[in-house]
Amino acid sequence: MTKLLFFYFYLSCLVSIAWRPQHASADFVRKPPRPIVFTPHNRPESHPQQVHVSLVGKNYMKVSWLTDESHVASTVDYGITPGNYEWSSATGEQTSYSYFFYTSGKIHHVTIGPLHPATTYYYRCGGSGPEFNFRTPPAGFPIEFAVVGDLGQTGWTNTTLEHINATDYDVLLLPGDLSYADAQQPLWDSFGRLVEPYASRRPWMVTEGNHEQETFPFIYPNGFKAYNSRWPMPYQQSGSQSNLYYSFDVVGTHIIMLGSYADFSVDSDQYKWLATDLAKVDRSKTPWLVVIIHAPWYNSNLAHQGEGESMRVAMEEMLYNAHVDMVFAGHVHAYERFARVYDNNADPCGPVYITIGDGGNREGLAMLYKEPKPSISIFREASFGHGRLRIVNNTHTHWSWHRNDDSVATVSDEIWLQSLSSSRSCILKLQQKVQITQTNDEL
Ligand SMILES: [Fe+2]
Repeated sequence: MTKLLFFYFYLSCLVSIAWRPQHASADFVRKPPRPIVFTPHNRPESHPQQVHVSLVGKNYMKVSWLTDESHVASTVDYGITPGNYEWSSATGEQTSYSYFFYTSGKIHHVTIGPLHPATTYYYRCGGSGPEFNFRTPPAGFPIEFAVVGDLGQTGWTNTTLEHINATDYDVLLLPGDLSYADAQQPLWDSFGRLVEPYASRRPWMVTEGNHEQETFPFIYPNGFKAYNSRWPMPYQQSGSQSNLYYSFDVVGTHIIMLGSYADFSVDSDQYKWLATDLAKVDRSKTPWLVVIIHAPWYNSNLAHQGEGESMRVAMEEMLYNAHVDMVFAGHVHAYERFARVYDNNADPCGPVYITIGDGGNREGLAMLYKEPKPSISIFREASFGHGRLRIVNNTHTHWSWHRNDDSVATVSDEIWLQSLSSSRSCILKLQQKVQITQTNDEL
């Protein structure tokens, strides 16, 4: 058995080396990362592990979990009183996947609802094991998002998650790079167990990063086997054909999760889907419009310079014309907040761009920046931490960045923002731009 395990990890390492992300850069100095935390499996084989929940359509929640035992039913019993599930039960589906010599446990996905807003539900997965609970988002403002990218599973990850959990929030947004399994599949299981205490209590909405790709020439050319099997997001509900990009509404906010590692060219499905999705946004119902990507379009850190540029060139005008309020990205292991920007210039009607790839992964921090600091970069710092987006009402939101560089959560950057949908000058400016375009087209 020991020899088999050794053989498996040896092969995993070979796969990992062969797979290495194209853009991984080692030419900058980083603070020492903390070691990987491997979270062991210590429940019976039929009991649920790696439980997490995600929003799936209005008033519904998807419960996902794994079992080593294959005969466990994909059912969730739930109710609003601990231990009392007499009237509510739902059945879903199960899947599994193989990656070289690894075969996953049974992966269960069950959608439950309709659910009441701002309500704590108690639930049990597969009819056995511990009871979990989650709280649904509120019916109206305020709503608070925790935002953190490039999470990984290290000592720093634990610190970040403890800080996130220390103050209540409604929904977690993760702009890619979850487990840093990098093709070593048991690390996906370990990550699922590490985040379960948090991801089973609040919906976690994620999009993919480069560390989710796990492509391998000829054998797994399309990649994302583990990611798509374990973290399915509600892409069908938003008309998307791919789990790599989707959108959803929650409490007056339309959130678009774009795929930095899916085709985004003008002829691509993602591009066409984004145009359709933006055209459907009704700002009277969702006054806030937020976009999440992995590779940042604006970045003054020396790490990953230019990697988001082709996507920016393809899609930035669409976001600008739609009055997107904020764009969050990961990938760069540091924090940076830009001014409202359009086409590399400060623009009061452009989105605020924020890099929040500082969750705590094993690669450590991206310490070096371009000098002098570009004028559109307002605040930048290479420290681990997480962000909070508290949307107070139709017109105002508070953003704060909580550094955990010294294991204490400290608010190190914060700003109040007004929604662009409530800015008369931006609405007028856009109307004038549309009129000029139409006139030019007619000439
Ligand atoms: Fe990344």
